Amino acid sequence: MSGNGEVLVKVDGLKTYYSIRGSFLDRLVGRTGAAVRAVDDVSLELRKGEVLGLVGESGSGKTTLGRTLLGLVPATDGSVEFEGREITRLSEHDRRLMRRRMQIVFQDPHASLNPAMTIAQAVGHPLEIHGLAKGREEVRLRVADVLERVGLAPAEQYLDKYPSDLSGGQKQRAVIARAIILNPVLLVADEPVSMLDMSVRAKILELMLALKHDFDLTYLYITHDLATAKFFCDRIAIMYLGRIVEIGPSEAIYEDPKHPYTQALLRAIPEPDPRRTIPRDLPRGEVPDAARPPLGCSFHPRCPKAFEVCGWESRDLKELLERRWAGMEEAGFEDEQASVGSLEPLDDPATHARMPGGAVKAILDEARAEDPAEPFWTGVRRIESADGHVEIDWHEPVAPRLLPSGQVEVECHLYDEEALAEAEKRRRSGIPR
Ligand SMILES: Nc1ncnc2c1ncn2[C@@H]1O[C@H](COP(=O)(O)OP(=O)(O)OP(=O)(O)O)[C@@H](O)[C@H]1O
Ligand code: SF4
Ligand SMILES: [Mg+2]
Repeated sequence: MSGNGEVLVKVDGLKTYYSIRGSFLDRLVGRTGAAVRAVDDVSLELRKGEVLGLVGESGSGKTTLGRTLLGLVPATDGSVEFEGREITRLSEHDRRLMRRRMQIVFQDPHASLNPAMTIAQAVGHPLEIHGLAKGREEVRLRVADVLERVGLAPAEQYLDKYPSDLSGGQKQRAVIARAIILNPVLLVADEPVSMLDMSVRAKILELMLALKHDFDLTYLYITHDLATAKFFCDRIAIMYLGRIVEIGPSEAIYEDPKHPYTQALLRAIPEPDPRRTIPRDLPRGEVPDAARPPLGCSFHPRCPKAFEVCGWESRDLKELLERRWAGMEEAGFEDEQASVGSLEPLDDPATHARMPGGAVKAILDEARAEDPAEPFWTGVRRIESADGHVEIDWHEPVAPRLLPSGQVEVECHLYDEEALAEAEKRRRSGIPR
């Protein structure tokens, strides 16, 4: 394990929200001032010399977290300390100085390089912006040196080339050269190999590990690919909808994944041996909208192990009915839909719903009898018919906490004694349905 234990970056309670204005219709129904909670209360530490992998599906907030760390996106709340200094409130001058020490490598090497600049100009650009080289000759010499360090050797062959003369892998090498020319201590690598051919991915990652060693770098390695993170990272943080749901040493995450989301991500890794069939059963559904995250645990609508306290609510009922109808013959589906009416009122997250139509109770009873193991039913506290309506109540949600469990920290009620006890209490005192 790399990393000498000294904390380089300390993130505490970090939130990065993007405000969205919403559509005209949204404003009409009062949904103004909504915010996408891209990073929603993240705390973590990055130790000097380590590689911390940040893994999660698209939209989970990885890039936003990486960019907020570097001060490229303003934090909404919380703090980021870099080498003991708070960076979320630095002056522009201090931020510029700080930026030399932290660099970012993006996914698309082609878009990262100006097509009108030669490699010498592009890679030497940071030296010029920060006034760190005397004259063009010194810039050229330093660029040549760093090009050779990233494997673009002999450098003379590359200095006067344009990005379009280089392959994808060579371009990413040039981008990495530009990132390290100022001798940074922290490199945020945002999916640095995902747009490259399979054949060069491993070579670029090997290069990054060699550079880490030579230049004493610390990496935040952003990826949605747990398979490569395995050999590249010392520790891994699993991100879901703006939150870290599990974090710990790589071996522990691979050998004994604790969070149901981590378990699902690991099961989704394609098996290299095609004769072995591993189920690729990522939980149903898409990543929810980060502007209106699910109540309780954000993962509960997709979680196969969710239970009483995980945050069941009206939108889950809508999804359940829609899933049911999608599997029905057209005639039956139309009948049911007509008796249930519009599902739109369920869009407003609530732990109580009142639905018109006496038929709803029978439909729900049938759905439950057909699939009693569906986790949704654990969350239902009461279903009652009254005056031609059906009243549905769900258990009050409990927000999960990131707590230590073995070698990792995990944010899931299954590892929280208090939450388990609360669920048990509710199970026992449940109102008969
Ligand atoms: N500039 C922006 N304005 C508004 N919303 C944004 C902006 N950038 C990102 N988002 C939203 O913030 C959330 C997190 O996005 P982010 O790009 O950080 O995720 P990611 O994990 O890096 O995804 P990917 O794997 O696709 O790169 C998403 O819901 C996204 O739509
Ligand atoms: S708290 Fe745990 S069990 Fe509950 S929904 Fe979230 S991940 Fe699943
Ligand atoms: Mg991203």
